[in-house]
Amino acid sequence: MRILGIETSCDETAAAVVEDGRRIISNVVASQIDIHARYGGVVPEVASRQHLLAIIPVISKATEEVALRDVDGIAVTFGPGLAGALLVGVNAAKALALATGLPITGINHLEAHIYANWLERDPGAGESARVSFPCLCLIISGGHSDLVLMTGHGQFNKLGRTRDDAAGEAFDKAARILGLGFPGGPAIEQAALSGMPCLPLPRAWLKGSHDFSFSGLKTALWHLVHKGEVSVPDAAASFQSAVADVLVTKTIEAAKQLKVRQILLSGGVAANKTITGRFLASSPIPVLIPPPHLCTDNSAMVAACGYYNFRAGGTSSYDLDVVPALSVG
Ligand code: KG4
Ligand code: ZN
Repeated sequence: MRILGIETSCDETAAAVVEDGRRIISNVVASQIDIHARYGGVVPEVASRQHLLAIIPVISKATEEVALRDVDGIAVTFGPGLAGALLVGVNAAKALALATGLPITGINHLEAHIYANWLERDPGAGESARVSFPCLCLIISGGHSDLVLMTGHGQFNKLGRTRDDAAGEAFDKAARILGLGFPGGPAIEQAALSGMPCLPLPRAWLKGSHDFSFSGLKTALWHLVHKGEVSVPDAAASFQSAVADVLVTKTIEAAKQLKVRQILLSGGVAANKTITGRFLASSPIPVLIPPPHLCTDNSAMVAACGYYNFRAGGTSSYDLDVVPALSVG
């Protein structure tokens, strides 16, 4: 079964064709990062307009190898995300469905991030990691830090979330404090390469809860920087290390408690090598991590999620609407 995935929830216009939820036939991502970078963050109105410009060329490119008539269904992100941005993808998907008669399924962007773990790692090699249930999913993106127990396809139970800033948001704000670029995650990771994690920064353990909190860390970083005398690489390395400590420790602790068979990482922050390296080094439970380009927003993950939705009979009707505040589980 071949699914066309469409994704426009934030600042990436993406379309992909994926076979049987695993094999990536095409995966096209048009990023708007350069346009938003000059404002220091994503401007919703600008994002919607860029999606409008990019959506048809992106879908056309994704369906170059496999024509639309050889696709079996359309999967489109309907939330969470920016309302005006989501509307572009959802309406494009509906128009295509109406024109072709293909079924359509609405996809939760957070669930799609998790499904990046089902995708073939090395296109063409036919290899993909085998996921075993129950697994514990850590979704760390620009808007979310969710800890989710997954017991089967479409079976999600949210155990923890961030109480303030999401992990990616914390990276973006820390980068702004340090005068680094946008998006902050890659900028902090790069700066940290030449620094040492030697500065005293707090970790919010929130004992007895699976929740996270990163705003205190951000404020502590601000105070350190404004007192002066700290080098940007050391501050970046110390911040990154504090985020990694909390994510790794709390996730592994929860995974042991719940006796899950695997830990699945996903979302843009899972592209960070310090964080993934610490998970691999300290977890006694197998950890699956999608390659970096499948951690950040893409549509192959939407198509993979769509495959399992369709298999479970989850077809949407033409009145599918966007849900900007959609959550998982
Ligand atoms: O999943 P994603 O692409 O979009 C959302 O659904 O939000 O995540 C974007 C977030 C941004 O906050 C970005 O700074 C962060 O992921 N990010 C990273 C890295 N690459 C992207 N954070 C840390 N290290 C990275 N290498
Ligand atoms: Zn995302």
